[in-house]
Amino acid sequence: MLRNKKIILGVCGGIAAYKAVELLRLLTKAGAEVHVIMTRAAEEFIAPLTFQTLSSNPVHTGLFDLIAEMEIGHISLADRADLFIVAPATANVIGKIAAGIADDMLTTTVMATKAPVLFAPAMNVNMYSNPIYKDNEQKLRRLGYLFESPVSGTLACGWEGEGKLAAPEAIFEGAVAALAEKDLAGLTVMITAGPTREEIDPVRYISNHSSGKMGYALARAARSRGAQVILVSGPTALSEPEGVTLIRVTSAIEMQSEVMAHVAACDVVIKAAAVADYRPLIRNSTKIKKNAHSVTIELVKNPDILAGLGAMDYRLKPRPFLVGFAAETDALAENAAKKLNEKKLDMIVANDVTQSDAGFNVDTNRALLFFRDGSSSDCGLMSKDKLAGTILDHVVARLVK
Ligand code: CTP
Repeated sequence: MLRNKKIILGVCGGIAAYKAVELLRLLTKAGAEVHVIMTRAAEEFIAPLTFQTLSSNPVHTGLFDLIAEMEIGHISLADRADLFIVAPATANVIGKIAAGIADDMLTTTVMATKAPVLFAPAMNVNMYSNPIYKDNEQKLRRLGYLFESPVSGTLACGWEGEGKLAAPEAIFEGAVAALAEKDLAGLTVMITAGPTREEIDPVRYISNHSSGKMGYALARAARSRGAQVILVSGPTALSEPEGVTLIRVTSAIEMQSEVMAHVAACDVVIKAAAVADYRPLIRNSTKIKKNAHSVTIELVKNPDILAGLGAMDYRLKPRPFLVGFAAETDALAENAAKKLNEKKLDMIVANDVTQSDAGFNVDTNRALLFFRDGSSSDCGLMSKDKLAGTILDHVVARLVK
């Protein structure tokens, strides 16, 4: 995706400037041609030579740097860029750009470019929550500028809270997203992810090993491709994907009610969640004590959310493209084809969860795709991010038909 793309990496003066080095490495490793612009303040934190050596390109600092102006010039740099990343982006630089001030190489080039601009802010927690900063960010977002939000943690200033630069990997993903083809623009995609938890009493529940990674990868990929994404997620340890409407649920019943509340607005529904098939008939309101020698918990069947979507009456609204998942331990193809037919799906992603490199809690998957028209496709072993892209390629190809 980033091969031969021309990316400008703007580095502002903040303690997180050193993390821009790691971001630069990720970008160059992916084949991008990176040109670094540093503000005067950034030079106080890290030497331009570091960026120059790792990017194999001259680093731009002063606006009136004669050599840079003669050889490249800020306007030509701005014109040739496919993407502009500002990481770390300080409150000062974001404020200046929001106000239309262009008084150094970085702000001038951001103002002059027609390429997408991705800000990765990093600052003190109180600066980040300051309404002046919030207004500036909102204004830039409204104008189409992209943001990779900071995360919470211990900040260099000693404060605890939001303001820590997003991980270089997350900013890299943001860059990939910014450059992706927007072939899902105008469409709403609902994705369910993670496990559900069915409570036995206030301290115990029944659940499964789903981590939510596949569903979250799909949500990020769909968002990158321009879709409005509604992510209905069971409990996971994953961070909230940027630009996605995240609806958190716990039980299958809650997931069903959120899915039903939003399905009318959706063009595509992808059910990657590992929904618990059964829930305890009775949820004890107090903790069950271990007085008895053995305990029997009666379970009742949960609604099959996906089958419900397949069976709905779509006379009043268009039927969304329905994608299911099939987690199997045996007879993969047979079971998946059965689920495709019984749940009236357009497509099913089948994976053998007994394999160590597929299914629950790992970053890779091995999937077989089956389609309503009887065709199938073997995706082989790939990362969940790559598989998410492949699944969406098939959805797009079939939606267009
Ligand atoms: N699914 C659902 N609601 C349920 C159970 C499953 O919407 N109560 C969806 C899953 O999100 C997935 C698909 O149905 O997209 C298949 O789920 P899976 O667990 O593989 O199969 P089940 O239908 O539950 O059948 P079984 O457990 O017998 O294999």
